[in-house]
Amino acid sequence: MICRLDTARRRIEPCTLVILGASGDLTARKLIPALYHLFRDRQMPAGFRVVGLARREKTDESWRAELREALGRFSRSQPVDEDVWRAFAANVFYCPGNLTEPSSYVRLESRLEAVSPPELRQNRLFYFAIPPSQFRAAAEQLHRAGLLVREGDPGWQRIVVEKPFGHDLASAQALNGDLTQFAHEQQIFRIDHYLGKETVQNILMFRFSNSVFEQVWKREMVDHVQITVSEKLGMGGRGAYYEEAGALRDMVQNHLLQVLALVAMEPPVSLEAEAVRDEKVKLLKSIRLPQAGDGARQVVRGQYLRGIVEGQPQPGYREEERVHPDSNVETYVALKLFIDNWRWSGVPFYVRTGKCLPLSASEVRVQLRPTPNVLFAAACGPRLDPNALTLRLQPDEGITLRFNGKIPGASVGVRPVRMHFSYDAEFGAYTPEAYERLLLDAIAGDATLFIRRDEVETAWQIADAVRAGWEGKPLQDEEFYAAGTWGPDAADKLLAQGGHRWRHPEPVK
Ligand code: BG6
Repeated sequence: MICRLDTARRRIEPCTLVILGASGDLTARKLIPALYHLFRDRQMPAGFRVVGLARREKTDESWRAELREALGRFSRSQPVDEDVWRAFAANVFYCPGNLTEPSSYVRLESRLEAVSPPELRQNRLFYFAIPPSQFRAAAEQLHRAGLLVREGDPGWQRIVVEKPFGHDLASAQALNGDLTQFAHEQQIFRIDHYLGKETVQNILMFRFSNSVFEQVWKREMVDHVQITVSEKLGMGGRGAYYEEAGALRDMVQNHLLQVLALVAMEPPVSLEAEAVRDEKVKLLKSIRLPQAGDGARQVVRGQYLRGIVEGQPQPGYREEERVHPDSNVETYVALKLFIDNWRWSGVPFYVRTGKCLPLSASEVRVQLRPTPNVLFAAACGPRLDPNALTLRLQPDEGITLRFNGKIPGASVGVRPVRMHFSYDAEFGAYTPEAYERLLLDAIAGDATLFIRRDEVETAWQIADAVRAGWEGKPLQDEEFYAAGTWGPDAADKLLAQGGHRWRHPEPVK
C-alpha cells in the first residue's frame, strides 16, 4: 500500500519569491536551479514571480542571462530544457537596491506591485541569501516598508534564513530577538539543508513505520550509535568563512545534531510541524552537556595537515588560501554524547565530522548489543560481530542490516552477512535537491523541516559547551591528522575507552 501523508493538507498558493542577495553564489548554485526544477516538474504554484534584489545594476534581461549561464553549470539535469527555461525566466525580475537603504525597499515595493498579477496577492516569500550580519537590517527595512506584516491582508509573508544562524548561543538569541521584533516566529523559516534530504526525512518514516526496528530502538537493545558525516574536500576557496566557523559551528551545531535528533527523538503525537519540532527540542535538551574537564573523554577536535586525498596532494589547513598560518580552527570534531532520558540512558552516541577525510559519506550506524556468546565461542572466538543497522544518507543511499550467518560447510563457522536496501534500485535515480523540497515547503507554509527558535538555541548551547573545552587553547600535536586519513588518533581512543571502534563508511562501489 502506498500512503501519501501530505498532499491533502498542502496549499501551494500563487506567490512572489523575493531573493535578497540575488547576485550571490547561493542564488546561482542552489535557489534558481531548485526553482527551475520545481517549475519543470509542475510543482510551482499556478502563478509566481521571482524578484531578485542586489546592489549591482542589472536589467531583468541581463540577470536572466546570468542565471541561464549558471544553470548550465549547476543544474542537476543537463542539458537545460530551453523551452522550459524561457517559460520560467519570463517570471523572473530584477530590482537593484541596497539592503540598508530605505529607498531600495520603496523601489522594491513598487516593482513587486508592477510585476505581480493580482492573483499573487500579497503572498511573499523573502529569501535572505545574505550574510547573517545583514539579517536584522533587512528584516527591519522590510518591516518599515510595510512588506513583512500586512495587517488585515489575507495573504502571507514569510522569511527564509540561511545558516549560519549566529555563532554561539548569545548571538543566536540576539538574532532571534532582532528578527522577532519585525516578524512573528511563525513567519521565520530557518534552513538546515540536511532536513531537505530524502534520506534524512526517511529516518522518521523508517523508525515509526516498521515494528521490527521500532522494537529495538532503545537502551536495552542498542549498544551504541555512530553518526558520521565525512568529507574529502578541503576549503575550496572558503577559507575566510571557515576561519570564523570551524567544523563544530559549520556542521555539528546544525546538520549532525539534527540527524541525531531525528535518530533519537520520541515519536511525535502527529506529523504536524510543531509536534515534530517539540520532540526534537526535547531530545536536544536531554543531551548531557560536556562539562569543563571532560576533555578527551567526550570531545576530540583536529585539524588536517598536508596529505594525499584520493591520490591527489592536499595542502594542510594552515596552508589554505585566506587561512591564518597559525590557525587553531578545527576541521574535525568527534563527540561522545549521552542522552539523559528514559530510552537512551547509558547509550553512547558518537558523532564525528571532518574535512579532508578519505571519502565523502554520511551515515548513521546503530550497533546492537551482542548475544551471549556461549554457543560459538569455541569455534568463533570470544566475540561475534554484533548486529548493526546502517542508514546511509549519502551517497549510495540505502539501509543495510548486518547479521551473522553460517558459513556453508560441514564445520561450524559464522560470519557477518548483509541485507541491503538501495534507494536507486528500489525507486530509480530520483534525486531532487534538498532546496527543491525546502523551497516548496516554505511556499506551502509547512515548517516541519525548518528549525524553530528554541531548537536553534538549544543546539548552540550544546555547541558552546563543547567549544568551552578547547576555547583559547592552541592545538596540540596529537590533534593534527594527515589529509586523507580518518582524523586524529584521539578519536579512536575516544571510542576505545568504551570498548568500541569507528566503523568507517564504505566507498561507493
Ligand atoms: C554546509 C557546510 O552546510 O554543508 C559545508 O557549510 C559542507 O562546509 C556542506 O561541505 C555539506 O553538505 P552536503 O549536502 O554536501 O553533505
